[in-house]
Amino acid sequence: MGMVAKSGVFNIGGELPVHRMGYGAMKLTGPGVWGPPEDEGYARALLRRAVELGVDFIDTADVYGPDHNERIIREALYPYPSGLVIGTKAGLVRKDGPATRENPGISMNGSERHIRDAVEGSLRKLGVECLNLCQLHRIDPAIPVEETMEVFRALRDEGKIRHIGLSEVGVEAIERARSVVEIATVQNVYNLITRVHEDVLTYCELNKIAFIPFWPLHSGGLLELEAVVGIAARRDARPAQVALAWLLQKSPSIILIPGTSSIAHLEQNIEACDLELSAAEMVALEGLADH
Ligand SMILES: NC(=O)c1ccc[n+]([C@@H]2O[C@H](COP(=O)([O-])OP(=O)(O)OC[C@H]3O[C@@H](n4cnc5c(N)ncnc54)[C@H](OP(=O)(O)O)[C@@H]3O)[C@@H](O)[C@H]2O)c1
Repeated sequence: MGMVAKSGVFNIGGELPVHRMGYGAMKLTGPGVWGPPEDEGYARALLRRAVELGVDFIDTADVYGPDHNERIIREALYPYPSGLVIGTKAGLVRKDGPATRENPGISMNGSERHIRDAVEGSLRKLGVECLNLCQLHRIDPAIPVEETMEVFRALRDEGKIRHIGLSEVGVEAIERARSVVEIATVQNVYNLITRVHEDVLTYCELNKIAFIPFWPLHSGGLLELEAVVGIAARRDARPAQVALAWLLQKSPSIILIPGTSSIAHLEQNIEACDLELSAAEMVALEGLADH
């Protein structure tokens, strides 16, 4: 447990405690988030190492792989240790092979049929009777968010979902969703450089909603920034640890899910819980935002 405990705890939906240093499993897939990872044994070992080090929140989605990511999590960790929370997502459809810039190969589907099928699929792949957390991956522009939230609410009332979240949403959409059902988490892009969702973070803090930044390391793209590298060198830390420590200190409502396909990087990222940045370092890092 040790290091991860230093990140503190967030109670999802006011009742489901997780440590604020989690793990994002998306990288445990093939290239372009398509197919299984090259070495499934290594992927399973990485997941077991995360849990061994005290991680009790793992982020996945039905479309990672698709399907393979959830399958590998079950194969690595089932029967799940008590207290482990796996957050998954529904509402996207993957097709046409690996994602590329020209062809992301993703479409949105917030219909009742699709959400129900997706949730049943995740229950089966993860081997559970209830999903602790299921987030709408993207709002389907063809379907009002209220309609999709009614499906999530029905699934919650049927005992298939415990907590409901949203992803890549603004404050207005969160409020519309909350007019139908309680929202426990919001997962938006947010890191040292990309701060477009500052208002969403504030809204989450005020409303006891967990804010889960995706791309906390800007997909690795902030590890060479001068300010980050400079602070890392002075503190005898890694650039990734500086970026993660900044997020942990930025708000007590933040739960981190740094992604990695490397056990060494996983261990480094978890050690970020031990790095306390000074007020001056926080201010210097604050200035990196390019929105
Ligand atoms: N809701 C959404 O729409 C959405 C979208 C994207 C992602 N996500 C979630 O967010 C999680 C995190 O996102 P992400 O993995 O795409 O991006 P990320 O966490 O910002 O960055 C991951 C990248 O950083 C590298 N990295 C990680 N730790 C490192 C370290 N200590 N030193 C050097 N490089 C390091 C990784 O390479 P190595 O593999 O070599 O370590 C990988 O290329 C995902 O796993 C997924 O669960 C959600």
